[in-house]
Amino acid sequence: MSTHNVWTHKGTFLLAAVGSAVGLGNLWRFPYLTGENGGGAFILVYALTIFAVGIPILIAETMLGRASRRSPIMGMRFLARTHKTSRAWESIGWLGGASAFLILSFYSVIAGWAIHYTWQMFTGSLVGADAQTVSDGFDALLASPALLTLYHTLFIIASGLIVGLGIHKGIESSLRILMPALFLILLGVLAYGFVNGDFAAAASFLFTFNLAELSLEGWLQAMGQSFFTLSLGMGAIMAYGAYMSDQASLTRTAFAVAFVDTAVAMVAGLAIFSLVFGAGLDAGSGPGLMFISLPLAFAEMPFGALIGGVFFILVLGAAISSSISLIEPVAAFLVERFDLTRPQAVFGMVLASWALGLLTVSSFNIWAETGLFHDLFGRSAFDFIELLTNIFMPLGGMLIALFAGWALTHSEVMKEMRTSETWFQVWRFLVRFVAPAAVAFVFLRTLPQVHGYLIPAIGALVIVGAFAAGRTFLVEKSQEQ
Ligand code: PHE
Repeated sequence: MSTHNVWTHKGTFLLAAVGSAVGLGNLWRFPYLTGENGGGAFILVYALTIFAVGIPILIAETMLGRASRRSPIMGMRFLARTHKTSRAWESIGWLGGASAFLILSFYSVIAGWAIHYTWQMFTGSLVGADAQTVSDGFDALLASPALLTLYHTLFIIASGLIVGLGIHKGIESSLRILMPALFLILLGVLAYGFVNGDFAAAASFLFTFNLAELSLEGWLQAMGQSFFTLSLGMGAIMAYGAYMSDQASLTRTAFAVAFVDTAVAMVAGLAIFSLVFGAGLDAGSGPGLMFISLPLAFAEMPFGALIGGVFFILVLGAAISSSISLIEPVAAFLVERFDLTRPQAVFGMVLASWALGLLTVSSFNIWAETGLFHDLFGRSAFDFIELLTNIFMPLGGMLIALFAGWALTHSEVMKEMRTSETWFQVWRFLVRFVAPAAVAFVFLRTLPQVHGYLIPAIGALVIVGAFAAGRTFLVEKSQEQ
């Protein structure tokens, strides 16, 4: 047994997992994707995926973490050995580590934009500004490598400091203050939107389900978003799961995380669209929804500067409670594998991710239209990195589902899940068949986007390989019995 830490309380894993799940995905990505995809129908598919695919994988990923009580890479190595399965399953850990490092690199740059807007709001620079001024302001921010780098650096240092302090003094204590504050602010912004915005229009936009309106692309985006928002398939949940108390219920915790995460996305959507519609603006403005439309709406409303500033603090807090969960799996691995001290490990991880983030910074200005990544992959470095994570996360999730579904024995799973035979059967069916099939479907979206054939070919091979491996377990098991 390794000398792993455990969270202070039975419920701390829930707090940490909610902190990881609730982030830019809920406040920034979810509203703009919903806006681009026409509202309610998108949400319906998103919610279905959360329940049919997200929750089963969330249970599986937490289970692998708690069963191994190690960081994702060492944990999968351990589980592969103790289950006499191929060492190739260790790739779950490596994929997770790679995704964490890649996501952190751009997540920190985008969270940095929120630092800029917090400042702009509190100083009242945007009060009364017109549409042109606000959108020029956003363009000017993106055009400045120096400003973007400054904010990116500040954000990543803050995240690193928290993780560097350790899971108790750093992660737990900051989440204990941060999360309740975030929920209060969110409710405050909702109330503000209700009073000052067009709440009825927002509600009907979000909750009118007309499936026919949704394109295939929209379906696939909704599934991708459900992975991203639950932090699935990349080791964050596994790393936190390694510290989870044996007393906590996997099923109940997973449902609670998914419920809170979805509720936050809905409330954020209601608040943001109330304000945006109230100001007579368009829902489908893409990634600029939060950074152009929303500041514009605040510019015209009573106390807009103050509430706007508080709103961007919320964005920052939610982003930092997620970014720390991106650092933890890699830092924990470096500590376990190379005997580094925690501060050394965090420093190494954060420095490398920071440097990679400079590529994202350059993607909005000096290398927006040209440069190596455009020559090689026909897209900016930021788009390329995001695409890679869009492949790695579902792939990791699929492998996690397959491993938990096929390699773990009935009694092991029951020891972790302590649940009824019926729910066990339902869960196992979902992780064995439904989740892998759904992920294969998500790949239909990502693979054709890739310039050249190399990555699709590797992706297809890995999917086929994963299914083959799954089958082998099935055959081996039936021979054992
Ligand atoms: N779930 C986070 C969000 O919604 C993003 C994230 C993904 C965090 C993967 C950790 C791991 O913003």
